[in-house]
Amino acid sequence: MSTIAIAADHAGVSLKAELVAELKKLGHEVVDLGPATTESVDYPDFAAKVTAQVTSGAASLGVLVCGTGIGMSIAANKVPGIRAAVCRTEFEARATRQHNDANVLCLGQRVTGGGLAVEIARAFVSTGFEGGRHQARVAKVTALEHR
Ligand code: RB5
Repeated sequence: MSTIAIAADHAGVSLKAELVAELKKLGHEVVDLGPATTESVDYPDFAAKVTAQVTSGAASLGVLVCGTGIGMSIAANKVPGIRAAVCRTEFEARATRQHNDANVLCLGQRVTGGGLAVEIARAFVSTGFEGGRHQARVAKVTALEHR
């Protein structure tokens, strides 16, 4: 089982709560970095909290929820070492782990219903990176961080 860091903005608080419960039920250690209320906050602040946990190794994977998942992914992907993916389907969640070694899942509470979002998160955290031919491609993605 893994340690998973999770956070949201005000537009993702209720889906975050569902995901926290589900991930704990699956046996993962969940680090909930807030927020606890729907008072307006700025999504980059919470993307920063989760990505810091992932890049430090304190968490092996991260989950970020905002209204669309897109703002969180844009912010998270600014952080070296982070490969954040917005997923709308279980297929995407599995594929981005297998091929891209994505380490942060981004979800949109205003886009994806709770039931589907939980299945997407389950697929993401239970799928491993395939390595092989994908390893060199991910290394090229990482190299772009230094350009
Ligand atoms: C908040 O209104 C909304 O802009 C935010 O949650 C997110 O969807 C941004 O990408």
